[in-house]
Amino acid sequence: MKLWGGRFTGRTDELVERFNSSLAVDCRLYREDIRGSMAHAAMLARQGYLAPEEAEAIVAGLQQILDDIESGRLQFDPAAEDVHSQVESWLVARIGEPGKRLHTGRSRNDQVALDVRMYLKEQIDQLTSLLAGLQEVLLDLAEEHLETIMPGFTHLQKAQPVTLAHHLMAYVEMFLRDMGRLRDCRRRTDVMPLGSGALAGTTFALDREFVRQQLGFAALSANSLDAVSDRDFVLEFLAAASIAMMHLSRFCEELVLWSSDEFGYVEMDDAFATGSSIMPQKKNPDVAELVRGKTGRVYGDLVAVLTVMKGLPLAYNKDMQEDKEALFDAVDTLSQCLQVFTPMLRTLKVRRERLAQAAAGGFSNATDLADYLVRKGVPFRTAHEVVGRAVLYCLQHGLALDEVPLATLKEFSPFIEEDVYPQLQVAGCVRNRSVWGGPAPATVAEAIRQARVRVQEVVSA
Ligand code: ARG
Repeated sequence: MKLWGGRFTGRTDELVERFNSSLAVDCRLYREDIRGSMAHAAMLARQGYLAPEEAEAIVAGLQQILDDIESGRLQFDPAAEDVHSQVESWLVARIGEPGKRLHTGRSRNDQVALDVRMYLKEQIDQLTSLLAGLQEVLLDLAEEHLETIMPGFTHLQKAQPVTLAHHLMAYVEMFLRDMGRLRDCRRRTDVMPLGSGALAGTTFALDREFVRQQLGFAALSANSLDAVSDRDFVLEFLAAASIAMMHLSRFCEELVLWSSDEFGYVEMDDAFATGSSIMPQKKNPDVAELVRGKTGRVYGDLVAVLTVMKGLPLAYNKDMQEDKEALFDAVDTLSQCLQVFTPMLRTLKVRRERLAQAAAGGFSNATDLADYLVRKGVPFRTAHEVVGRAVLYCLQHGLALDEVPLATLKEFSPFIEEDVYPQLQVAGCVRNRSVWGGPAPATVAEAIRQARVRVQEVVSA
């Protein structure tokens, strides 16, 4: 059943047989492999390299093989070299002679490039819609929490008050970029390599344009050497997937922190948390932790393929067979993580009172007091110094800024008047930040409206 026995007299070593085989990994490409072969056979018939009956026998045979794999009647033989050899040897076993003509003008090198590109386009579409589903949950949640005040942090120290909506919308921006990166990568994946042969094209007058149309590709590869040795599209995908995982991981880190007793901002639904075998009181955010942990695998996949590619001379090299395990792992990991993360977020209980309480503490309104002084004509640098001293006073006396009597505040700056107190309420602090991109509820409401449109635009791009 080998595709290349003729030149050999000796048998392949058992160990090499197993070491060389990629079937266990690439068998998931059988649909793409069969669809690609059907298009190739139809094209060979149009160009007169196959009799019409031969092409019909090939297409019918391939269709049967596809049906038999899907129904479980056909099982992959672990001894097969790869999915391409497996499908071809099944075909020859079923239809004989015409099956042996299928590989005319084709190499497994352009075949595998085709299969992976077809597969990845489809996966990118699915991942894009998973991301769109996550965006919908985020946008709905943001709409619900336009007025939910919470502390914003820098250095994980309370900085300035924001709203939960504004915080969630930061992730909407990240995931919008992820969606954009995937669509972008899809454009460069959407290139049809068949006709490149092993590396130098083919002597047959293949109608590449016909195959391109049959398989729904946007463009034809323009250089046969590049077409069989290019895995940029795999790398671009892995980079995009790594960045998306990094975003999920940062979000998960926040959810882990927020669901701790120390923060207490949120509580995971029972369906998305787990317990401890020894400590009866425990409710652990395992899902968020696992998503955070799985991020490492996807980075590993990216680095693995970058490293595989870095020293390869043109054109195809067997090293490149290693690309698929990494690619599939990244696809599966990102897909799984999105599928579990989205409902975890949808069912999250938000403890508004805890968020509000936290926002009120920690002098998160200190910048607002400085801004108040600036509006009264004080230079910002001076105002900063004044408020710094007021904060120090508060720390020494166990007070919040808005608890200090006016007479005392005036000792820090004569510009402070009675009208300062409403300016120090966190809700007001947030409402005043109405600059575009800021957390004021009306501003964020508009950002949500625009983001819904932008999500649709990326999906249909
Ligand atoms: N299994 C191979 C891969 O995944 C297919 C191409 C093999 N080509 C070859 N000439 N051995 O890269």
